[in-house]
Amino acid sequence: MKELKGKVAAVTGAASGLGRAMALAFADEGMHVALADVADLADVRQQAEKRGVRTTAMKLDVSSAEEVEAFAKLIDRELGGTDVICNNAGVATPGAAWEASLGDWQWTLGVNLWGVIHGVRSFVPRLMARDGGHVVNTASVAGIISPPGSSVYNVSKHAVVTLSETLAHDLRERGSRVGVSVLCPAYVPTGISNAERNRPAQYPPGERSPETLARQQMMKKAVASGKLSADDVARAVVQAVKAERFYILTHPRIKGAIGARMEDILQERPPRNPMAL
Ligand SMILES: NC(=O)c1ccc[n+]([C@@H]2O[C@H](COP(=O)([O-])OP(=O)(O)OC[C@H]3O[C@@H](n4cnc5c(N)ncnc54)[C@H](O)[C@@H]3O)[C@@H](O)[C@H]2O)c1
Repeated sequence: MKELKGKVAAVTGAASGLGRAMALAFADEGMHVALADVADLADVRQQAEKRGVRTTAMKLDVSSAEEVEAFAKLIDRELGGTDVICNNAGVATPGAAWEASLGDWQWTLGVNLWGVIHGVRSFVPRLMARDGGHVVNTASVAGIISPPGSSVYNVSKHAVVTLSETLAHDLRERGSRVGVSVLCPAYVPTGISNAERNRPAQYPPGERSPETLARQQMMKKAVASGKLSADDVARAVVQAVKAERFYILTHPRIKGAIGARMEDILQERPPRNPMAL
């Protein structure tokens, strides 16, 4: 999509962090923006409107198919349809696979994976009908490598990467001009280390082992000291949409670990720990 001005970008998880920064970066390009989140959107909406674009906003839970579909309908009504959809809302859960509670698995996969599935199911047919536009799915480097201690999160993000790759193949096979990107950042200082603030009571967390608690502290520090800002990542997303680039790898240093994983697979040897490379 070379020309963004006057088009419509929809962003889930727009109240905070990467989603907020993406919404404002698209508004800086002159795009009208549709904002969705479980959290209050008044502030980001006001910031977008200051940029002179039209906005709409909806409080929703991306793990609900009905609510995501209602968001798409709201945009059709209020902004005349969607050109760019960013399926971005996400949460993080620490812990080894056997320690994570059913609540950890259900909540995290509900938001990180089902949220993207619902976004694809509601928005892609609309983009195809307009024969244009772009889908940006937020995964993570944890969707390409498997850092220890975050089994549930890694599963959700690997699923988002393959969902996005397959979506791109299927659209191309059908001759569609709808573009796809998958965003795979490493640590960026946002509210992600405090994702528990959004956990519904019906999905209680598992008991955290000392190892998990220690790793959680380490992750918090790593996220807080991330060198790229949410605004830097958002600018990379805007560039990728314009250039129709599929993989958005904002942290090139991680490519060594990605290469190591690919080599281990091809050589059929045990996976090396990407955090120890
Ligand atoms: N920050 C990082 O280091 C990093 C790295 C890689 C990937 N990511 C991914 O980036 C995305 C955005 O996260 P962030 O880092 O900006 O964190 P953040 O916590 O600042 O923002 C996440 C947003 O999603 C919203 N949200 C949570 N559950 C929701 C639900 N059920 N329905 C709708 N909205 C919901 C939150 O309210 C919040 O506004 C996530 O998918 C995350 O996994 C983040």
